[in-house]
Amino acid sequence: MRVTIKDIAKMADVSPSAVSLVLNDRPCRVSEEKKATIKRIAKEYNYAANQIARSLVTRKSKTIGLLIPDIENIFFSSLAKHIEERCRQKGYMLIIVNSDNKYKHDLELLELLKSRSIDGLFLIPSDESYENNTELINQLRNLDNAKFPYVMIDRIFSEHPCNKVWFDNEEGANLAVSHLLESGHQKIACIANSSDSLNGKSRLTGYYRAMEKYNCEINPEFVIEGDYRMDSGFRAGKKLLNQDISAVFVTNDMMALGLLKAVYEKNMQVPNDISIISYDNTINSYIFGVELTAIEQDVCSLSNHAVRLLFSQLEKENKIPEEICLIPKLIKNTSVLTVRQ
Ligand code: RIB
Repeated sequence: MRVTIKDIAKMADVSPSAVSLVLNDRPCRVSEEKKATIKRIAKEYNYAANQIARSLVTRKSKTIGLLIPDIENIFFSSLAKHIEERCRQKGYMLIIVNSDNKYKHDLELLELLKSRSIDGLFLIPSDESYENNTELINQLRNLDNAKFPYVMIDRIFSEHPCNKVWFDNEEGANLAVSHLLESGHQKIACIANSSDSLNGKSRLTGYYRAMEKYNCEINPEFVIEGDYRMDSGFRAGKKLLNQDISAVFVTNDMMALGLLKAVYEKNMQVPNDISIISYDNTINSYIFGVELTAIEQDVCSLSNHAVRLLFSQLEKENKIPEEICLIPKLIKNTSVLTVRQ
C-alpha cells in the first residue's frame, strides 16, 4: 500500500506538516517519542517522499540543471557524465538540456529549467551567444538577484562576474602550435572556430602568437574557419590538403575527425604525409591507425571545480563568485612527425 504524508499523520496522530518537517529533519515542536513514531511508520510502509511535495516544504527540489551546447560532442557528453556523478553523490538529480549551439535555445531552456524549480545551474552557452548575449546576461543577473547559484563552465562571459571555471584557450593553442614548430614544421595550417566565441578567438590568437614567436610566416590561405562540427573539418581539410602544408592545428576533436576523413579520402597518411594536432583529446579511443597528439582539457578537473563552486554557494551560502582558469596539457601521441630543416 502506497502511503502519503496524510496517512502517516493519521496513524501517528499528528498534523501532515509535522510529518513533513520530521521526515525532512526540519526544526519542529514534536516530541522525540512522536518523531520516532513518525519515522517508524514511514519506514514500515516504505514511504517514498514525493520530491515535488517535499520541495514545497523545504523549497529545495534537490535537482540541478546543466545546459550544454552540443550533446553529440564527446567533450560535452563526457563533462555531463562527470557532473551527473558528482551531483548524484550529493543526493541531487541532474537535468541535462542541449541548446544545439543556438542562442535562442539558451534563453528558452534556461526559463524551462527555472520553471522546474531547480536549485542551481551549470551553464555552457552556445557559440551564438557571443554575438549578443545581453538578454542571457540579464537572465543570469535575475538569477543573482534571486540568490540562485550558477556556474559558467568552459565558455565564459568575461564581462559578467559570476562563478566560472574554464581552460586557458590561448595557452592551449600556443602549446599545440609551438610543439609543431619545435618539431620542425613551418607550413602550419589552422582549422579555427568561425564564431565570435571567446574560445574560438583565443585559440586562433594562440596560433598567431606561436607562429610570430618563432618568426614563422603566416599564410592567410592556411587559416580556414569551421564550426566545431565534423563536416566543417572535412570541408576545411579538402581545401587545405591541396595546399603546400606539412601540419594542421585543429581547434577541436570533432573537426579533427572531419579532417581525418579528408586525409583518408586522399589516400594520405598521418603523420608521414601530414601532421595533426587536435584539441580536447576525447577521440583517440574511437579512431584507428593513428593516436592524435592533442591539447587536453581535463573534464574531471573541470567538473570537480564546477561542482565545488556551485555547492559552496548552495550549501554554505558562499556569496563571493570565484573565477578559476585552468591550464590545459599537451598530450603527445603519434600524429606529429619531427621533420629536419
Ligand atoms: O569540442 C567543443 C569545443 O567547444 C571544446 O573544445 C570546448 O572547449 C567547447 O568550448
